[in-house]
Amino acid sequence: MERTLCIIKPDAVKKKVQGSITQMILDAGFNIIGMKMLHLSKKQARKFYEVHKERPFYNDLVDFMTSGPVVTIALEKENAVADYRNLIGATDPAEAKDGTVRKLFANSKQENAVHGSDSVENGKIEVGFFFAESEL
Ligand code: CMP
Repeated sequence: MERTLCIIKPDAVKKKVQGSITQMILDAGFNIIGMKMLHLSKKQARKFYEVHKERPFYNDLVDFMTSGPVVTIALEKENAVADYRNLIGATDPAEAKDGTVRKLFANSKQENAVHGSDSVENGKIEVGFFFAESEL
């Protein structure tokens, strides 16, 4: 079984679509093994997106991710990382396929409704960023 991390981002929480997104995840066969609503601090957001720190969008991304509450969800399933990425669609909603979470709910490349881990290794690391093993 693989693990992957979903973050329902501030744009989607503001739109009150966190329930719809969670239902899509459950309907796609994922097990939710942990779930938290929280307001990220700048320090947490900077650390979580550290890999992007040289990118021009890094500071804006940190500001956006701390602009309101998020919902972090630890997911487990066979082939979870790839299946979840298919469910959410491309980073840019303009390129996301019909029926994907981002096509349905994202505003833009930055305000793109959900985060998804990009590899099996990062799935484990990112779940561990928000959840102690004893919480799962
Ligand atoms: P996420 O899956 O959370 O991983 C990194 C995030 O950076 C991504 O979703 C987007 O929110 C954001 N991002 C990636 N590329 C760009 C871009 N070109 N401009 C603005 N934001 C971006």
